[in-house]
Amino acid sequence: MTDQKTLLLTGASRGIGHATVKVFQAAGWRVLTVSRTAFDSRCPWHAGSTDHFQGDLADAEARADLVARVRETLGDSGLHAIVNNAGISPKGEGGARLGIAESSDEVWQQVLSVNLLGPAALMRDLLPELEQARGAVVNVGSIVGKRVHPYAGAAYACSKAALDALTREAAAELGPRGVRVNLVTPGEIETEILSPGTEEMTDIIPLRRLGKPDEVARVVLFLCSEQASYVNGASVDVNGGQHA
Ligand SMILES: NC(=O)c1ccc[n+]([C@@H]2O[C@H](COP(=O)([O-])OP(=O)(O)OC[C@H]3O[C@@H](n4cnc5c(N)ncnc54)[C@H](OP(=O)(O)O)[C@@H]3O)[C@@H](O)[C@H]2O)c1
Repeated sequence: MTDQKTLLLTGASRGIGHATVKVFQAAGWRVLTVSRTAFDSRCPWHAGSTDHFQGDLADAEARADLVARVRETLGDSGLHAIVNNAGISPKGEGGARLGIAESSDEVWQQVLSVNLLGPAALMRDLLPELEQARGAVVNVGSIVGKRVHPYAGAAYACSKAALDALTREAAAELGPRGVRVNLVTPGEIETEILSPGTEEMTDIIPLRRLGKPDEVARVVLFLCSEQASYVNGASVDVNGGQHA
């Protein structure tokens, strides 16, 4: 019986998720990863090809398959953490912001499926495994859950506000069952999700620079660790002081 901890991480193929794989592996965790992209054989982690699940979190069948495969992989062990990081932020032509007027039903459904329903379903379906390990969940929200943003669209912002509420609900409901649930809310982090022009926002960020993916990942690790044993239902900003 190993005492290695296991994390299920969604959206691991790039950006904040990719940095999260590295930070958790360096801390000795086993990381089960999910994304629509197949495992890249250039990745140096020997277990990556067996511990990566390729699937679309917007698809209920793919989610059910993922849950079954995670359960099979865990065997008798519990699940120490889920990090619900996968997210999409659709843009219009030329990277244009999708306001209410430009957001079709399809956009709303897609965004809510990936950014909100996916996290809710994984917490629900893997609750026995989380309870067994007295695990932790970290949902990756956004600064835009609480403000209008020049680039992030309306559906995206609503999905992140709802993720904040989901975190509060889950923390209240799962806390008595030994599972902690928290939210991180990144500001402007250098990844592919950013719109052109974000660089110009550094004037309103007190640290005068964009954040790096591993600066979010390290906070996520803290929230999943024993160091955060009394942190539940919290929302932690990782935004360089951006409150304007
Ligand atoms: N970067 C920022 O400034 C910022 C700020 C605030 C919040 N966030 C949040 O941080 C999280 C990570 O963002 P990021 O900037 O790292 O974005 P990113 O570089 O675009 O990465 C998104 C990840 O989510 C995965 N993903 C997207 N749709 C998926 C689906 N349907 N099923 C499975 N996986 C899916 C992608 O993998 P595949 O494409 O391979 O599926 C990718 O690994 C998101 O929740 C985002 O909203 C980011």
